[in-house]
Amino acid sequence: MLRTNICGELNETFVGKKVSLCGWVDTRRDHGNVIFIDLRDRWGKIQLVFNPNNKEMHALAEKVRPEYVLRVTGTVEMRPQGTTNLKLATGMVEIHVEQLEILNTSETPPFEISDTPQVSEDLRLKYRYLDLRSQAMRERLIGRHRVVKIVRDYLDELEFVEVETPMLTKSTPEGARDFLVPSRLSTGCFYALPQSPQLFKQILMVSGFDRYVQIARCFRDEDLRADRQLEHTQIDLEMSFITEEDIQTVVEGLVARVFKAVQNIELRTPFERLPYDEAMNRYGSDKPDLRFGLEIHDVTELLKNSELKIFQAVLQAKGVIKGLKISGQNFARSDFDELTVMTQELGAKGLIWLKVLDNSFEGPVAKFITPDQQQKLKTEFGAQPGDTIFIVADKWQTACVVLGGLRNHFGDRFKMKDKDAFRLLWVVDFPSFEWNEEEKRCDALHHPFTSPREADLDLLEKDPLKVKARAYDLVLNGTEIGGGSIRIHREDIQKKVFRALNINDEEAQEKFGFLLQALRFGAPPHGGLALGLDRLCAILFSVESIRDVIAFPKTQKGICPLTNAPGQVYPKQLKELHLQIKT
Ligand code: AMO
Repeated sequence: MLRTNICGELNETFVGKKVSLCGWVDTRRDHGNVIFIDLRDRWGKIQLVFNPNNKEMHALAEKVRPEYVLRVTGTVEMRPQGTTNLKLATGMVEIHVEQLEILNTSETPPFEISDTPQVSEDLRLKYRYLDLRSQAMRERLIGRHRVVKIVRDYLDELEFVEVETPMLTKSTPEGARDFLVPSRLSTGCFYALPQSPQLFKQILMVSGFDRYVQIARCFRDEDLRADRQLEHTQIDLEMSFITEEDIQTVVEGLVARVFKAVQNIELRTPFERLPYDEAMNRYGSDKPDLRFGLEIHDVTELLKNSELKIFQAVLQAKGVIKGLKISGQNFARSDFDELTVMTQELGAKGLIWLKVLDNSFEGPVAKFITPDQQQKLKTEFGAQPGDTIFIVADKWQTACVVLGGLRNHFGDRFKMKDKDAFRLLWVVDFPSFEWNEEEKRCDALHHPFTSPREADLDLLEKDPLKVKARAYDLVLNGTEIGGGSIRIHREDIQKKVFRALNINDEEAQEKFGFLLQALRFGAPPHGGLALGLDRLCAILFSVESIRDVIAFPKTQKGICPLTNAPGQVYPKQLKELHLQIKT
C-alpha cells in the first residue's frame, strides 16, 4: 500500500501518529513562509503543513499545483488554537509533512472542482473525471451504490433471484424506438437492445423461478429530458402466483427501506391509491404531484347553457369544460398571453381567464358568463375578489392535460412544491389502451402484455377503449418512478390483446411467437414492476436531472462529450456488416 491512512478519517485520536497519505491537491495557500495544502481523497480532505525548516520538501511543495497527485508522510498534530475548521471533519488536526512525493502532475483544470461548478454541463461532461472529483457528485454515486445494495439485500431476504437477461435481443415494445445492432453473422438482420427485460422476466416465471429481480439496463431511442436518458437503469421485478396487492406490498417495503436508510425518513405504508380517472380529473396528470393542492374542477354542467360559441362547440363534440383557480396573484396582460401560448403548446385551442372582481368578472369572454353563472363559479372554486379562474374547454383528455400542465407551472412559479416533502402514491385502474389519432388505432397504455381486468375481457373486441388494465404506476412528487402490471398468462387472451392493438396473428407469431409458445407450456399467473433507479435516486438526492446521478450520461442531444460517442466507423466495419451509409 502506498498509504497507511485515508485523508478523511484523521481526527484528534490520531494526534502524534506518523501517517502516509495519498491524494489530490485541492488547494494550496502560501502564508508567508509556511505552505498549506488541502489534500483530497474519496473520504475527505486534510490540511498539510510544509514548514520552511524542511527546505527540500518546502521547495517541492512550492511546485505543487491544483490536482497534482501527492504522497506524503508526516505527523498528525492538533491545529493551533484559532485555526481549527469545524466545517471539515478533519478540521481539528493537520499533518506536519516530512516527506513529499509528487506521484503525478496535472494540467490546469478547465474548471474548479466544486459542488456547484459555474460552467456549462457540456464542459462538465467532457471532463467528467474532474467533475466526479467533487464531493457532491461522489456522494451521489456512492449513495446510488447504497440504494442498489439495499434493494439487493431486501429482495434477497424475500428470496428473489437475480438473473441477467440478454442485451442483444429482439425488440420488446415499450413505446419507444429501438436501438438496432446489425448482426455480422446473420447478414441483413439486426438485434435490438432491450427497451426492458419484460419478455425474459415473464419467461423466467414460466420456468418456475417465481421471484426474479435484475438491476437492468434499458435502451430507448427517444427524445431526452431531465428525467430521460437513452439508457436508464431499472430495478426490475417479477413474481408468480400473486395479485396487484402483493407486488405493491413488496415495492412499498423496498421503497420504505431505501428512504429509511438514505434519508432517515419513515414512509407510511400502504401508499395512497388513486384511480387514473380521478388523477386526471383532479390533477390533470397520471403522475400527479400531491405536494400541493390546486385541484382542477369540472364546470361543464355549470356552464353548459353559456352562449359562448366555443363552449357550445365543445359540448356538442362531447367535450368538457374544466378550470382551476389561483388565489391572490396579480396577472398582467402579458402573463395571460404567455400562459395562452403555453397551453396551446400543450394542445389547447385557447385559454379563458376570468379575474374575480367585487361584483363581476373581468376577461375577454366575461360578458358571456351570466351573473348567475359567475356566482356559481365563485361558489364552485371558493373564489374571492382578487382570484383568477382559468378555464379550458376541450376533449376530456386535452382539457385535463392542459390544466394539469398549468397546475404544475403554477406549482413551480408560486413555490407551492415543498422541497423537503416526499409524496408517494399508486395510480391504478388505468385504461388498457389509448387512441392513436395519427395511426387511427389503439396503442397499449403500458405494454401489450398487461392483463385486462377479468370483468372487461368481453369488451376487448367490442369496445377496447373501455377496457381497464391490471396496471399500476408508482408516482413520487409528480414523477413516475415505477410502472408495472399483472400480465396475461393465457395465450388466447394475449392474442386478443394483440388483435385489439392491430397486430394480426401472423405478425404476432413473427414478433412474439416465442412468448405465445411459452404461454402454452404452463405459464403461471404472474406480474411485476420496474422502478426507474435513476429517477428514484435523483429525487432522493434532491437533484433536478437524472444526469446528476449517472456517472457518464448523455447530453440532451444524445451525445457523450467525454468519448464523443456516437462516432463514425471504418468502411471495413461497415463492409463486414453489409451496410452502406447513404447521405
Ligand atoms: P416502464 O416503461 O414504465 O415499464 O419503465 C419503468 C420505469 O423506468 C423509468 N424509465 C426511465 N428512466 C429514465 N429514462 C428513461 N428513458 C426511462 N424510461 C422509463 C421510469 C419508469 O416508471 N417493462 C415495464 C415494467 C413492468 O411492467 O414490469 C417497463 O419498462 O421510472
